[in-house]
Amino acid sequence: MDLKMQGNVAVVTGGVQGIGREVANELAQAGVRLVLADINIAAGEEAAAELGKVTPTIFVQTDLAKPASVQEMVDKAVAQFGRIDYFVNSAAILDDKTFMESSAQDWTRMLEVCLMGPMHCLHSILPVMRAQKFGRIVCFSSDSARVGQARLSYYAAAKAGVTALIKSIAQEVGPDGITANIVSPGATNTPMRMKREAALREKMGEEKYQRRVRTVEKMYPLRRIGEPSDIAPLVAFLLSENAKWITGQVISVNGGFTML
Ligand SMILES: NC(=O)c1ccc[n+]([C@@H]2O[C@H](COP(=O)([O-])OP(=O)(O)OC[C@H]3O[C@@H](n4cnc5c(N)ncnc54)[C@H](O)[C@@H]3O)[C@@H](O)[C@H]2O)c1
Repeated sequence: MDLKMQGNVAVVTGGVQGIGREVANELAQAGVRLVLADINIAAGEEAAAELGKVTPTIFVQTDLAKPASVQEMVDKAVAQFGRIDYFVNSAAILDDKTFMESSAQDWTRMLEVCLMGPMHCLHSILPVMRAQKFGRIVCFSSDSARVGQARLSYYAAAKAGVTALIKSIAQEVGPDGITANIVSPGATNTPMRMKREAALREKMGEEKYQRRVRTVEKMYPLRRIGEPSDIAPLVAFLLSENAKWITGQVISVNGGFTML
């Protein structure tokens, strides 16, 4: 399918690894020019070098928790490419503590990156999109925000906040030709998930961990954990002209883990 995205410009936070990187790959194949925004310089430079072979790409080291860093990234994006058509927020952090183990500092850091981060980006990017009378926004939430998940209370709370933010701004910016949607992945094999799984394996021991893996897989009607390549095509579709009448929606890509 021709997504008719050739030459458009995307800012992809977290676009240097995991799901964000796969989104960047997919957009590069469609001829989209890329701004990768991430805190990780080494991964960012590597990703920009690789993607730069396919499409014009810049990497801007950005800390989403810092509004000045976000504004600087947006200014560089506009200076380089003159516009921002697509904004994809994939950057996030994860933690693994019960609610009672979590401190106020844990909550603050999570909310700063996972909720305030996209908020800072939208404050800086929406004026550009409004001036163009065009924009497409996709932010990642998580099924944990829809159904809750033990040991992820503050991550789930931050992600539920992102959903509320996106639904609300979708109502405010629709008249300017801007759509805003949420993609909600189920468990997906990325560095974020693998780090948590490695810690669980260490804690539980191999045998108990393998039993857990089988139990988790059974919770998925499609009997497997997701891959970034399961998620990225939906993001590309939501950014494309074909999705021009879809806004304010939460769409799960999760092998049937939740059916809401
Ligand atoms: N992997 C899963 O199982 C899963 C499930 C549900 C939702 N999600 C969501 O999907 C999105 C992508 O997840 P992933 O698994 O690919 O994550 P990942 O950890 O593999 O990649 C996240 C990226 O965010 C960057 N980042 C972290 N803090 C940052 C900051 N302060 N400023 C800028 N960049 C920062 C990291 O450097 C990294 O490159 C996230 O929003 C995540 O919450 C993932």
